[in-house]
Amino acid sequence: MSKIIDIKDLSYVYLPGSPYEQQALKNINISLNQGELLGLFGGNGSGKSTLAKLLNGLIYPTGGQVTVCGIDTNIKELRHDLWKKVGLVFQYPEQQIFESNVYDEVAYGPRNLGLSESEVKTRVFEALDRVGIFPDSMVNLSPVKLSGGVRRRIAIAGILALEPEVLVLDEPMAGLDPLGQNLMLEIIKARQEKKTQTTIIISHNLKDILALADKIAILERGALVFHGEVQELLSKIDILSQFRLELPDYLQVAYALNARGIKPNNDIKNINEAGLELIRIISGGKGKL
Ligand SMILES: Nc1ncnc2c1ncn2[C@@H]1O[C@H](COP(=O)(O)OP(=O)(O)OP(=O)(O)O)[C@@H](O)[C@H]1O
Ligand SMILES: [Mg+2]
Repeated sequence: MSKIIDIKDLSYVYLPGSPYEQQALKNINISLNQGELLGLFGGNGSGKSTLAKLLNGLIYPTGGQVTVCGIDTNIKELRHDLWKKVGLVFQYPEQQIFESNVYDEVAYGPRNLGLSESEVKTRVFEALDRVGIFPDSMVNLSPVKLSGGVRRRIAIAGILALEPEVLVLDEPMAGLDPLGQNLMLEIIKARQEKKTQTTIIISHNLKDILALADKIAILERGALVFHGEVQELLSKIDILSQFRLELPDYLQVAYALNARGIKPNNDIKNINEAGLELIRIISGGKGKL
């Protein structure tokens, strides 16, 4: 697997040298392979959105190095084109929709790539389809008349239409109702099935991202307190209790087994599989639970 994100000793300071100087990130080291999904978790103000902006070259390090898709963002001439490879969906993207109809909104990025209008059309229809919007019935509508959840999906389609190698979603679930959250999960899962596409999901709710992520990174006041595989996080009892991490049911089962010295199968992804694993362990005579 090839490395697609390589963050080395990254620091970021807003307004350095001014009275408002603010260190947002310090000594961050993260690496991610192509096709992996990283869940980036942390409380308010921990530096998540700052890291997102550093990944697509919108801002660049005040210390250390961020290399994405082989591009070192410290090199000015290279970072300007990084938006073509790294799609960033901001927090509450539905508030930033500006075109007067759905088609033009989604077409904005592909047109900036310099594609022909027929290629743009293909991209727009495919992207809308991927976010669960039936293009024919929607393209002429004005986004302002649509619900917040649908507008968010249109904003995401606008980034997907760029066909980015890396997709960064900043708080994609925030403020959505359960139906909207499920739709968002489906969009992310569908992307994950394509093993070459790398995704980073930022959330202040670990539960949202645990079931999807290959790796987890946890930020606390600008410092990285954990970076590793989901299973590794489960064994870090100090971190789980420090952040009062609320785990999904199936992971609570895995966590309880771990705490009793029984190593469950790494592939448990839902409560049914957790039940089957319990049966396997009991019938395998691995001791009293
Ligand atoms: N444009 C800015 N100018 C100055 N300081 C900033 C700016 N943007 C963010 N900060 C500061 O940098 C730190 C990290 O902010 P950031 O927005 O990256 O955190 P976050 O983890 O995304 O928070 P949230 O969960 O609230 O979205 C905070 O202390 C914040 O006040
Ligand atoms: Mg943020």
